[in-house]
Amino acid sequence: MELLVTIFVAYLIGNLSPSYLIGKMAKNIDIREHGSGNAGATNVLRVMGKKFAALTFVVDALKGVMAVLVVRYLFGEDYAMVAGIFVVAGHNWPVILKFKGGKGVATSIGLILVIHPFYGFMAILIGIAFLMKTKIVSLGSLMGMISFAILVLVFSRDYAIFATVLAAMSIYRHKENIRRLMRGEEKTISKKKKS
Ligand code: G3P
Repeated sequence: MELLVTIFVAYLIGNLSPSYLIGKMAKNIDIREHGSGNAGATNVLRVMGKKFAALTFVVDALKGVMAVLVVRYLFGEDYAMVAGIFVVAGHNWPVILKFKGGKGVATSIGLILVIHPFYGFMAILIGIAFLMKTKIVSLGSLMGMISFAILVLVFSRDYAIFATVLAAMSIYRHKENIRRLMRGEEKTISKKKKS
């Protein structure tokens, strides 16, 4: 029963999409039909500017924080990790948006800082370093998520499955970005990307 409640609550929280709602309310657009087509802060930055992007990022990160804190309070740490995975799944594949959502990075940032603050913070710093060096958000995102999994696998095995699943979901959702990165065609945040 705890597991079902955890999955339901976390997946539902993940379904709430600030990028979609902000796009609809502020500009009457579906963010998924613009820019990279992703329902996330990077694409909101591209299409709608910094303020809306910052708002999207904060709300998406808070979804991760909230799902994990609520479930941790109700059922403990093991279920909090399950909540972390399912809030990202809900964000990436939201049933209410026909399974076309975001890539889960902001939500993951929020929840890894709650679940494992030290390695979460280290991984975020690594991601930011890649982002600042290359100006490519997807590369920074991937490096941050993969670093978190590696750090946890090496130093904190209790969280290994959780961190590996998070990284795997992130890699899967970034598969188009990875193809562009390998072709050298991924755009930096200073340039516009074709839809
Ligand atoms: O967090 C999403 C980011 O890593 C990539 O987004 O829109 O460039 O595909 P986008």
